[in-house]
Amino acid sequence: METTTTAAAMKAWSRAARSAGRRIGLVPTMGALHDGHLSLVSRARAECDAAVLSIYVNPLQFGPREDFGAYPRDAARDRNLARSFGASLLFAPLEGEIHVAGHLTWVEVEGMQESLCGRSRPGHFRGVTTVVAKLLQIVDPDTAYFGEKDAQQLRIIRRMARDLHLDCAIIGCPTVREPDGLAMSSRNAYLTVEERRAAPVLHRALEAGAALARSGGTDPARVVARVREILDAEPLARADYVEAVDDETLRPVEGFEGRMLLAAAAWFGRARLIDNVLVERPGASDQAAASGRSRPEIGTG
Ligand code: PAJ
Repeated sequence: METTTTAAAMKAWSRAARSAGRRIGLVPTMGALHDGHLSLVSRARAECDAAVLSIYVNPLQFGPREDFGAYPRDAARDRNLARSFGASLLFAPLEGEIHVAGHLTWVEVEGMQESLCGRSRPGHFRGVTTVVAKLLQIVDPDTAYFGEKDAQQLRIIRRMARDLHLDCAIIGCPTVREPDGLAMSSRNAYLTVEERRAAPVLHRALEAGAALARSGGTDPARVVARVREILDAEPLARADYVEAVDDETLRPVEGFEGRMLLAAAAWFGRARLIDNVLVERPGASDQAAASGRSRPEIGTG
């Protein structure tokens, strides 16, 4: 596995790979690699000729009181893992390579970045879209892979790529979980033993809400209340939000017709964890297809 640390070297590598006819897949990460990241690299390897893994803890997506300074960083461990994942190239840009001193340009997806995580993390998604736009520009991949765990991020990036006519397919990959259901996350490292034991309640609560919705609970407010009730019963969990939104636009849903994204964030000590479940009403896709309202491929597409 090769490593590049500058935008210029990364661009040169990509140009050479492309002129050799190789299809490039990009997996952007902030490091502290785990099996969730591995699943994205595996998908990139399966679908492309070269899998580029980028590691960059992006300061633009952290608020002033957030965990930028504490975010887990272990370059040597990550390099070994990236190699063992089978990445062709590790792009680990040096400070100043991505956000050039004095940069003034931002990429924002208005209307999708304010709800859900955006409400408690103002400015977060414009930090994400700005860095991802830069990474796509530098690496110039055919395809880029993102996890469904960060459902809002995936949908915003997909919309950005569409709106900016980017020549890069955005692929969503299923959430990889621990055996007890907890979604893998770099931030799970912040959990104490007790908090780690309590944390699967987030997934359990969302699944209970999804089950209610699937069994005919057509009122999203009731579904949200069910999720909250289960979260509130766990003394170590403090719900940040629970929302039922349209799968594509991320706007709140009033009734439940097609696909609904049920998403939540909760604090466990100093770790803020997120998770989501996509709920489809049985037969909804048939009805949608029959009425010409079928949605574009999402999720694991
Ligand atoms: P990071 O949290 O490191 O995640 C990198 C990618 O891995 C994201 O697409 C995320 O959704 C995916 N991922 C994380 N946990 C996962 C899991 N349990 N299963 C499947 N995929 C998972 O998300 C970011 O970094 C940053 O915002 C980034 C996109 C790199 C921009 O800075």
